[in-house]
Amino acid sequence: MAPELSVAEQAALTSGRDAWHTTPIEHAGIPAITVTDGPHGVRQQADPADMLRGRPATCFPPAVATASTWDPELLRRMGEALGEECRSMDVAVLLGPGINLKRSPLGGRNFEYFSEDPLLAGLLATEWVLGLQSHDVGACVKHFAVNNQETDRMRVSADVEMRTLREMYLRAFHRVVTRARPWTVMCAYNKINGVYASQDPWLLTQVLRGEWGYEGVVMSDWGAVADRVAAVAAGLDLTMPGPDDSGDKELESAVGDGALDRRLLARNAARVAALVGKAAARRPFDYDRDAHHALAREIAGRAIVLLKNDALPGHVGGLLPLDPAGTGSIAVLGEFARTPRYQGGGSSLMNPTRLDNALDEITAATRATVRFAPGYPVGGAAGGAAGAGQGPLDGALLDGALLDGALLDEAGALAACSDVALVFVGSEHETEGADAASIDLPAAHRALIERVAAANPRTVVILSNGAVLATSSWDAAVPALIEAWLLGQAGGGAIADVLFGRVNPSGRLAETIPLKLADHPSYLDFPGEHGHVRYGEGLFVGYRGFDAREQEVSYPFGFGLSYTTFGYGEARAVSGEHGLEVRVPVTNTGRRDGREVVQLYVGLPDSAVSRARRELKAFASVAIEAGQTVEVTLAVARDDLGYWDTRLGRWVVEGGDYHCHVGASSRDLRTTAVVTVAGDEFRIPLTAQSTLGEWLEDPRGAQAIAQAFGGLAGEDSPMAAFFADPTMLMFLRATPLARMGNFQGSPLTTEAIAKLVAAAND
Ligand code: BGC
Repeated sequence: MAPELSVAEQAALTSGRDAWHTTPIEHAGIPAITVTDGPHGVRQQADPADMLRGRPATCFPPAVATASTWDPELLRRMGEALGEECRSMDVAVLLGPGINLKRSPLGGRNFEYFSEDPLLAGLLATEWVLGLQSHDVGACVKHFAVNNQETDRMRVSADVEMRTLREMYLRAFHRVVTRARPWTVMCAYNKINGVYASQDPWLLTQVLRGEWGYEGVVMSDWGAVADRVAAVAAGLDLTMPGPDDSGDKELESAVGDGALDRRLLARNAARVAALVGKAAARRPFDYDRDAHHALAREIAGRAIVLLKNDALPGHVGGLLPLDPAGTGSIAVLGEFARTPRYQGGGSSLMNPTRLDNALDEITAATRATVRFAPGYPVGGAAGGAAGAGQGPLDGALLDGALLDGALLDEAGALAACSDVALVFVGSEHETEGADAASIDLPAAHRALIERVAAANPRTVVILSNGAVLATSSWDAAVPALIEAWLLGQAGGGAIADVLFGRVNPSGRLAETIPLKLADHPSYLDFPGEHGHVRYGEGLFVGYRGFDAREQEVSYPFGFGLSYTTFGYGEARAVSGEHGLEVRVPVTNTGRRDGREVVQLYVGLPDSAVSRARRELKAFASVAIEAGQTVEVTLAVARDDLGYWDTRLGRWVVEGGDYHCHVGASSRDLRTTAVVTVAGDEFRIPLTAQSTLGEWLEDPRGAQAIAQAFGGLAGEDSPMAAFFADPTMLMFLRATPLARMGNFQGSPLTTEAIAKLVAAAND
């Protein structure tokens, strides 16, 4: 049995030894373990003095890209590969995945987060965690919870009503925690409805442990703890980074003077000790760098979303893919082709094992003559240095005011004398710690697109960005558009794979691309002010909001083209006690093998509560050979049909006719099946404050009311008149019973109401 720990040792165990290790307690046989960022690679700091550069490790595509694969299986493989790399570096816990919703396209960490939809984020993250933990390396699901902006992130209160919290912002966490059992969860910096996540007993204990049965460790985000004693009492096990000697002392004194129950500290320390024990199962491993680079390329290729691929006059089919055997000339324009943007800034910044760029990969992939022009300047470093992945630090260099006319002229001239022009543009400053100010392309990049499109009708735009960019003001000018996100170290090769058709694109948008920022549901309430941000759009996050208001968008959630086409047969749906099952035949109607992401959106038009018109409830990424048909099965667990009922404080599945729409995006619904679902049995107790309408809708309530008012029949009183006249009754329905006592002729004395309440609820 492990030796008893003193209060001082327990306190020390609940804070780190330093930035990346837990505190060892040697005599108790508790060694230190290493935790490190995450999420899209293992960023292990090699030199304590160098916060920026970690040891070389594979920089996989960040979550913005992996989410676009819509393929849980691929995420599991990525998690496994990360587990191997963690083992090779003696890392016990990898600080990821980040699964917060993308509430606004301005969110500074959108590149690190998956989606505007909690089901997509939750399903993908679950597999990532299972893959990682299959190597006895722990995941750290972050940032729990409601971390959806960087502005004032360490203080801001996310003010969000309970239904929205449950159905949107906690839902992905619930899924991952209950299905993948992550070893650790990281609390967010921000407050939720006025309480710091790090010291919120409701969040960390009641919901996470009480309702979801979580047994792992909750650690703080780095520097998120404002009050150590309150945090420990709330259920926060590990404060990071350490050391936190003064906090340890505060805990000791609090235990000493009875302000903190010693058992709570002992409980938290025991959880940290158990985590350290679990990590001991891990064995060293030497991973294959080439294989991981190849996997990074495969995932990146699957993440690329083909947004537009128009046919040119006189040609059959779209401009893409390009023929790798074609001779002729290709102009590659834009510095990002040579100096790729492949990850965002902040704690997830990786030092890749190597870095492909699109220019070299395109040159290697074709027999055509490839010529390059930078088109716009990139802040200082034009070379392909690994550290440039974060993008230039000097924004002024790319400011519209400093458009470089000579670079534009050179690019335009090259485009004019080439058969095809490939334009690489995107965003420049995406980093943890700062939200974006706009979703527009930098002026210099837009100018490049305009110049090239005017010079060559065969122009393809390739975007590199960690959060959505508006395309509506320029995409009509080009026939082809590729959303290549931030693709990690092998992104250059993946872009070439898609351009030349070695990979048939199957990426789908995990977030809506709006026509303009002002259309976005979050627009009026982001990022808040004076310490508060109001989640005014409520449940209507992302596509739910665009759909509810029937707004046009540039490219809808779930959208993405392929080099082939898919046809949908008729959907059939069945409902059972475990949920719904929808089957649909899908045919590859084109001439190339391809992959379709079949999406199921479910709506309940007659719902009694406010709801999104349709919500993603299942999806499947399926490879289908040209000419073949595959029967796709989409299952929805009954729990996933529920809404959070604030009156009951629990999930409720409403009975009714559920509309199951199957299609290729949230706005390309090809077939619908309607299925009746039996609702949960529940009854809201009637009170004096329940309205007459609520009484009449309840069978026992209606009976009690009928008896109470029965005596009025035929009487010449205003109350009797109300009940006799259907219009008047409508008028009265919204009135609480207690307020009807004063009405002339009302039999509803306080005593009479008490009797009614007793009779109705008996
Ligand atoms: C980030 C976390 C990260 C931690 C450690 C924090 O600033 O919010 O996501 O894991 O630093 O680097």
